[in-house]
Amino acid sequence: MSLAIRSVRSLDPQIFEAITRIWLATGISNPARADDFASVQYNLDHGGIMLLAELDGVLAGTAWLSHDFRRLYIHHMAVSPQLQNRGIGRQLLAAALEIAKEKGWQAKLEVHQNNAAARHLYASCGFTDLEGYITMIKRG
Ligand SMILES: CC(C)(COP(=O)(O)OP(=O)(O)OC[C@H]1O[C@@H](n2cnc3c(N)ncnc32)[C@H](O)[C@@H]1OP(=O)(O)O)[C@@H](O)C(=O)NCCC(=O)NCCS
Repeated sequence: MSLAIRSVRSLDPQIFEAITRIWLATGISNPARADDFASVQYNLDHGGIMLLAELDGVLAGTAWLSHDFRRLYIHHMAVSPQLQNRGIGRQLLAAALEIAKEKGWQAKLEVHQNNAAARHLYASCGFTDLEGYITMIKRG
């Protein structure tokens, strides 16, 4: 089986449907997050990058990247549940960190404290906790 990581700036509805299936199956996406096609494509039109991991041409995982010319924000890291723990997430993360390195940017992400697999992956790639900080959000 061959794994390829593709960096994409333009989505079509068909690939977005496949992306959404993975986001829903992994609990990464929910209606409160405004992850609709138009918002995602707008982000990609304005500097965002969608990394797609494809296993023998079939979508297996995603990482969605945004930046502010200083930091790369890594979000929507998701691998199809049946394909997890085979190194796909690690390759997506490596591709994201390669972009950060090329640009000279720091990399930042959020992860739930109970998400042991993701925390293990991020820590093993050099991410450390931002001691003392909590995440806040205002929706709408
Ligand atoms: C996080 C996620 C993207 C990782 O993708 P993946 O393809 O499974 O990742 P990898 O196989 O490259 O690496 C997983 C690592 O976690 C480890 N792991 C798996 N379950 C674990 C657990 N319960 N506790 C600690 N480590 C665990 C694996 O052993 C592996 O580490 P290793 O390479 O040192 O052996 C995937 O688990 C996922 O989609 N999760 C649901 C969505 C999610 O939580 N996304 C992250 C949001 S911040």
